[in-house]
Amino acid sequence: MNHLRFLTPQDMRILITLALCQLFFVGLAQDQQVKLLQNIKSRNVQTLDGLWQVIVDPLENGYYNHRYQPKDNGYFQNRKMESPSDLIEYDFDSDLELMVPGDWNTQDEKLYYYEGTVWYKRSFDFKKQKDMSTFVYFEAVNYEAKVYLNGTLVGEHTGGFTPFQFDITDLLQAEDNFLVVKVDNKRKREAVPTVNTDWWNYGGITRSVHLVNVPKTHIEDYSVRLSSDRKHIEGWVSLSVKRSGEKITISVPELKLNEVTVTDEQGRAQFKVSAKPKLWAPSDPKLYDVILSAGDETIKDEIGFRTIETRGTEILLNGEGVFLKGISIHEEAPFKTGRVTSAEECRILLNWAKDLGCNFVRLAHYPHSEDMVREAEKMGLMVWSEIPVYWTILYENPETYQNAEKQLTTMIQRDKNRAGVVLWSIANETPLSDARNSFLGRLATKARSLDDSRLLTAALDTHSGSFGERVIDEPMGEVVDVIGINNYCGWYYQDPEKCVDVTWRNTYDKPMIMSEFGGGALQGYHGNSNERWTEEYQEAVYKYNIEMLKKIDFLAGTSPWILMDFRSPRRHLKKIQKDFNRKGLISEQGQRKKAFYTLQEYYK
Ligand code: GCU
Repeated sequence: MNHLRFLTPQDMRILITLALCQLFFVGLAQDQQVKLLQNIKSRNVQTLDGLWQVIVDPLENGYYNHRYQPKDNGYFQNRKMESPSDLIEYDFDSDLELMVPGDWNTQDEKLYYYEGTVWYKRSFDFKKQKDMSTFVYFEAVNYEAKVYLNGTLVGEHTGGFTPFQFDITDLLQAEDNFLVVKVDNKRKREAVPTVNTDWWNYGGITRSVHLVNVPKTHIEDYSVRLSSDRKHIEGWVSLSVKRSGEKITISVPELKLNEVTVTDEQGRAQFKVSAKPKLWAPSDPKLYDVILSAGDETIKDEIGFRTIETRGTEILLNGEGVFLKGISIHEEAPFKTGRVTSAEECRILLNWAKDLGCNFVRLAHYPHSEDMVREAEKMGLMVWSEIPVYWTILYENPETYQNAEKQLTTMIQRDKNRAGVVLWSIANETPLSDARNSFLGRLATKARSLDDSRLLTAALDTHSGSFGERVIDEPMGEVVDVIGINNYCGWYYQDPEKCVDVTWRNTYDKPMIMSEFGGGALQGYHGNSNERWTEEYQEAVYKYNIEMLKKIDFLAGTSPWILMDFRSPRRHLKKIQKDFNRKGLISEQGQRKKAFYTLQEYYK
């Protein structure tokens, strides 16, 4: 019997609503999934780094026709003339070239201020291997990427500082593959970050690109960590297929640990074994070889074991109180400037932080490269990792939220096995509003659902009290575990010497980190300490702010702004700034300023 005859219009409305809800939640669930191979460096990778051929395309002529409709014969086809009468008005192989990884702004002075589309093309041969899948893995592209292989769109990605991958197995050919990427770094009001930032909008394929070859059935993701009671090593391994009964082995040879387990019907295996590893700590950043195998795949990671928690206004590392002696760092390369593009440059910056006496670095204002996080961990530096929910993004816009949540999910997914990372930060200096509170509240819930083993924080402004007494009472104090506060006493307000009299009151029984303070100086410019831009003025800002910090009994750390001068489109004072924010303790040419030693003395 056909029931439809008896459905009333009201019934139909209910059915349609239910169907739409189902679609919405399925969509949401899928949205939360980020398929990302864990620890690609340990896999069978073929690098695509090096010179790529590029076409600078400010009007996106390689993508839209003159009626502003996407064209099917766009630059992604990498066409060549076949007959002398062919009309083709582009040619990758006789145009510009750019290094990958790298921003375009510092590689070609015509691109210094460029914001728009650059088409990148890389040709390569490929030796197919039986029963293997191949992914193209981008460590970062700023800001939007459309990726094509041999003329076919394989995927798109938004977000300038998080990795992404596409399965290209079935599109690869033995010779002359051409990978084309449409990179667009135009700033957009609804983006994350939005149109105004105090850092240069470096565009390009700014981190490495890899071809990753894995068995058809492979280990896709895993988590290995110390349990909160510090008596077990626990975690999970998930395969690329939802199949139960697959054998997984997790071993830590140095601990004589060899755990065998099997997957459930989701293709995921949990484990928890008694263990007493040497704990990771800044004084002894012990990392263990962890070997994971499934089928005919074996991958190795280097993992540290530690716990991080709070007790009242204290931060506890491995159950003991710790003060985070930090410094903030942008991903600006020393000497050459532009984006950091090598592990060596990461080590230079992190060694400068070690020279300061740091045990902590705030990697501002976006997820830095995996190299940076791994090098910090090896050097015993605790890490504050952050997504670019920065200043005045559109807190009412659902797509903006989805973008922020996806960047948060990817940041946590990539670095969840890095013991060095102790803090996830969901925001920097976000203006108070109900929309902002619910936006950040949702991000906080999401972060905790992805990782309940780290502390949650945000760099906040103070909104209450007076110049004399700052009061920490803003609503995000309820949500985070650790309250980050940015405070520019002696630079944006008050004279430096007045800072010693500023007192702080915290309405939350939670630790506070002074996540920014400081001032600018041109390295080598000297004068009286009341003369703006002299090293002496910056030294006075540090001296008096440090006196103020010493009186804050709920202070658990600080990450002054900032290790090194960095390029910003907001810094126009030609004789001093030359497009650089001069709050670095070190110039971009590696020269220390007097305030470097003031902070170093405090950390001693
Ligand atoms: C802000 C912001 C930084 C900025 C700094 C400054 O607090 O968080 O991104 O560079 O202050 O004004 O120099």
